[in-house]
Amino acid sequence: MRKNEPMISEQKAELLSESPEETLDLGERIGRMLSDGIVIRLIGDLGSGKTLLVKGIARGLDVPSQYLITSPTFTLVNEYKGRQPLYHADLYRLSTAVDFEDIGLLDILCEDAVVVIEWAEKLTEDIENTWTIHFATIDDQKRQIVIKAQGDNAIELLKKLEK
Ligand SMILES: Nc1ncnc2c1ncn2[C@@H]1O[C@H](COP(=O)(O)OP(=O)(O)OP(=O)(O)O)[C@@H](O)[C@H]1O
Ligand SMILES: [Mg+2]
Repeated sequence: MRKNEPMISEQKAELLSESPEETLDLGERIGRMLSDGIVIRLIGDLGSGKTLLVKGIARGLDVPSQYLITSPTFTLVNEYKGRQPLYHADLYRLSTAVDFEDIGLLDILCEDAVVVIEWAEKLTEDIENTWTIHFATIDDQKRQIVIKAQGDNAIELLKKLEK
């Protein structure tokens, strides 16, 4: 193995969203594809579309629409019951870095849960089956969305999304 080669294989996809609806649709498509547990880390500035993507994922997982997906305010993590359980964490207000145990999600990772984390740069732990999605605001309607998959299952899933 070459020196700088990552230990875990990676796959990357770059997408452009031209409206809030497109980001919502992308989330829904992702949610519909899911059948196993996965951790999805979301990274990007305020208002770049992270929560909107989570709303789409919730739709794709058949979370009943009466559940309003908003960022958790009084707790770090909200749980929604869909086809698979959806855990939505928002680490924005945390002043220090945390790991999965700190935010009470360590045991959840063994289940078929979908864990989506906003401001995931505050999560220090590296785990294998993950997507990391970076959002960049290009203008008031356009967002660049870059998805990086780590680990075999996550990579397979990303290949499916690209089809
Ligand atoms: N292409 C786009 N994709 C997503 N959101 C968009 C897009 N164009 C405009 N917007 C607007 O940007 C805002 C995104 O808000 P959202 O709450 O999803 O951001 P966020 O990344 O979760 O922010 P925060 O860091 O504050 O939690 C919404 O008001 C949405 O209408
Ligand atoms: Mg948000």
